[in-house]
Amino acid sequence: MKIQGNVALITGASRGIGRAIALALAQQGMKRLILVARDRRKLTEVAQEIEAMGTEAVIMTLDLTRATEVNIAVAQLWRNHGPINLLVNCAGVAYQTSFLRSKLFQVQEELSVNLLGMYTLTSLIARRMASQRQGTIVNVSSLMGKVAAPTMATYSATKFAILGFTQALRQELAEYNIQVKALLPSLTDTDMVRDLQLFRWVIPMTPQQVAQALIVGLQNDAPEILVGWQSHLAVWCQRLAPWLLELILKIATPPKQQQLAEKPSLLSRLNRFCDVLLSRNVAPLASARKS
Ligand SMILES: NC(=O)c1ccc[n+]([C@@H]2O[C@H](COP(=O)([O-])OP(=O)(O)OC[C@H]3O[C@@H](n4cnc5c(N)ncnc54)[C@H](OP(=O)(O)O)[C@@H]3O)[C@@H](O)[C@H]2O)c1
Repeated sequence: MKIQGNVALITGASRGIGRAIALALAQQGMKRLILVARDRRKLTEVAQEIEAMGTEAVIMTLDLTRATEVNIAVAQLWRNHGPINLLVNCAGVAYQTSFLRSKLFQVQEELSVNLLGMYTLTSLIARRMASQRQGTIVNVSSLMGKVAAPTMATYSATKFAILGFTQALRQELAEYNIQVKALLPSLTDTDMVRDLQLFRWVIPMTPQQVAQALIVGLQNDAPEILVGWQSHLAVWCQRLAPWLLELILKIATPPKQQQLAEKPSLLSRLNRFCDVLLSRNVAPLASARKS
């Protein structure tokens, strides 16, 4: 796709990979960037950097799990700053825990930001792109959307789902001249992974490397953009020798998290009880965690 002179909306633009993508698009000569996340202060800082590069920046503070607010914001946005040529769905959250110790509110947050948040915004923008018969949508999945990682079951499930969603939309929206792509970063050095126990041997990429891979992928019209040689190696290994990849993953998984079969402690039983109570009384839960 042509980047120069176009308008893009990027979610998760306050930090990490989304921020790096916004800066890389500005560097490529985008006319206007609409930056979406919850943290106004961080969005303002990114917007200032972008304006200094000669690209117009618009910030939109939104919690993507609040569908009604997203709906209103998109209608205003399209009126005042549209049409949008490129949508990058980058906002996401991740938790690492053994499945037997997983907490319901974290599972719900991963599902509501990574999947439902992306779905809400995409449906609102795709309809408008369809009527202008032009647009590109990039959904940020992960290498974990191809190779499931132990200790990150729900996160992997959301990233696999994003790939399925992307493939289906690619075929459905082609007749409206809308291209739908997936970006699959491997481990990247951002706030998201700061609290995670890293998988052994995986060398983290920088957010700037991920953003550059997206720019090249957009220029080459690639439907799936894998980032870094480790991702290519893992995907090939899965195709040719899945047993070997499974063995590698077993060894590479953080050791503490492998204690799956332990009897739950009194504290974890209490936690589980609170999860059930919370899931009944609090909605939406995603806003509970400021990542
Ligand atoms: N880091 C990695 O190793 C890695 C690898 C593969 C794929 N990815 C994917 O890349 C994407 C970006 O990850 P990252 O590493 O850059 O993470 P990050 O540094 O933690 O940034 C996450 C972004 O999502 C936004 N966000 C979270 N919840 C939100 C909500 N409810 N509403 C609106 N915005 C929300 C955050 O903004 P606010 O907090 O300001 O709202 C922030 O801008 C994610 O989809 C992630 O799954 C990351």
